[in-house]
Amino acid sequence: MKRTPLVVANWKMHGQSEWIKHYIHEFVKAVGKPGQCEIVLCPPFVYLSQLQVLLRETGLGMGAQNLHDSEQGAFTGEVSGPMLKEIGCSYVVVGHSERRRLFGETDAQVAAKFAAARLYSLVPILCVGENEAERAAGTTERIVQRQLDAVLHVCGIDAFAGAVIAYEPVWAIGTGVTATPAQAQAAHGFIRNYIASHSEASAGSMRILYGGSVRAGNAAELAQQQDVDGALVGGASLAAKEFLAICAGFTG
Ligand code: PGA
Repeated sequence: MKRTPLVVANWKMHGQSEWIKHYIHEFVKAVGKPGQCEIVLCPPFVYLSQLQVLLRETGLGMGAQNLHDSEQGAFTGEVSGPMLKEIGCSYVVVGHSERRRLFGETDAQVAAKFAAARLYSLVPILCVGENEAERAAGTTERIVQRQLDAVLHVCGIDAFAGAVIAYEPVWAIGTGVTATPAQAQAAHGFIRNYIASHSEASAGSMRILYGGSVRAGNAAELAQQQDVDGALVGGASLAAKEFLAICAGFTG
């Protein structure tokens, strides 16, 4: 099955109004109408509405970096799926390793967020991946399977149809050390096969992004791997030109 490449910019806690205006101007001018590659930008929550206006008629998509699993309620500082949907998000990142590591998100919470994204018609971008010690111990597949199982148990296999999984080895995030194309393919192949062992249809329709120090210089090589359907880009997405070059790497 041919899957449209998807490249997602995760700006994390970067970018204010003027910067965003300038970035989009520069990016849109150079990208024209994105063709064979779907491009999604994920700014901090407070800039979603500004971005939504700037992205009109551009063909670029918008996502959020996190959500709460409830529809509404007394959850100070949180943002819900219906709010993200209303403001124009199509995607939402769930279970990013920074959320897991720095904010204590558990597998169970990540699964609840994945379910909420589905319930409110947002496409979840589920982040999974091992840390350095886990890779050294040879437990990469076990860790990734545990993270997938948590979601499978709560949401079921059909929830993976059309979803996005981002394989992001923690040791590659923000470190400048990228997984080799072979390491990326091995992990992506494992993820695809594991989901396929439950449902071929879900596995075939799901896009698996690689994340972790993706740059213009390594995007095209990663893109050639059979099960790499795109990228989740942090640091390098903060420069419009660099991010553009990464998108070009996935457009072929
Ligand atoms: P990086 O971040 O590209 O800066 O390594 C990727 C991510 O955290 O999604």
